[in-house]
Amino acid sequence: MKPNTIHQIDCIEGMEEMEEGSVDLIVTSPPYNIGKAYTTYDDTMNRADYLEWMGEVAEASHRVLSECGSFFLNIGGTPKDPWIPIDVANEFRKKGFYLQNMIHWIKSIAIPRPDMGSYTNINGDIAVGHYKPINSKRFHNDCHEFIFHFTKTGDVPLDKLAIGVPYQDKSNIGRWKKGGSDLRDRGNTWFIPYETINERRPHPAVFPIGLPTLCIKDHGIERCRLVLDPFMGIGSTAIACIRLGINYIGFEIDSSYREIALERIREEKE
Ligand SMILES: C[S@@+](CC[C@H](N)C(=O)[O-])C[C@H]1O[C@@H](n2cnc3c(N)ncnc32)[C@H](O)[C@@H]1O
Repeated sequence: MKPNTIHQIDCIEGMEEMEEGSVDLIVTSPPYNIGKAYTTYDDTMNRADYLEWMGEVAEASHRVLSECGSFFLNIGGTPKDPWIPIDVANEFRKKGFYLQNMIHWIKSIAIPRPDMGSYTNINGDIAVGHYKPINSKRFHNDCHEFIFHFTKTGDVPLDKLAIGVPYQDKSNIGRWKKGGSDLRDRGNTWFIPYETINERRPHPAVFPIGLPTLCIKDHGIERCRLVLDPFMGIGSTAIACIRLGINYIGFEIDSSYREIALERIREEKE
């Protein structure tokens, strides 16, 4: 299968054409089955059929992933149906994947100043990220999604400090550091804002380029010979790979999304 290409093909058929163990990292976001208005794909499957399909995706992915590869699966639910991501993760579990890390993609966070303690360099309340109000007395705003980090063994080393964050309180450097850098593990709560786009979004369910970027760096750039995104959409993972100088393969069944992805890639290369 030709690398650095987005193939217009069903992802399971695409993976069947790939060699066993040929991919070091899979990062993707499948349809969530919540009725999103995709151009062609129908996002309203019967739940049992959807979960069975996700199991087939897991099985095909397990075959193409290398022994010490990582699969970062981004998926969320809805306030009314928060079980979707957990149910899908369980299908991956049944197909032999270990849940090595359960990461929360934080889209929006608010921290009132009094909750921040004694940090002298923070002056006021913080409220950052994309916030879409919902009209409900029952549910809180959904400000997070999951990024399930699956591996074949549960024992795949990560390059955690490649996505490390600076210590807020510099006195901790001396207390916790090994080797003197001002970086600590980011932990499993990743704040990743959406890129600001002025025109209408051409796809109803994209993730920010920052998401695959963090996943690739966390797995370790030098251990990524080939990245696969089986649900490539408009090419966010491909752009992350181009910026990091890594080979990728993408599958996307919708020709219009693939065209937009190719256009974004052309612009990125210019
Ligand atoms: C959640 S979106 C992914 C968006 C992508 N992460 C981005 O940032 O552009 C899921 C995508 O999967 C595609 N899709 C649905 N069924 C597919 C299949 N069987 N094989 C490949 N792609 C599929 C849809 O057309 C949709 O673009």
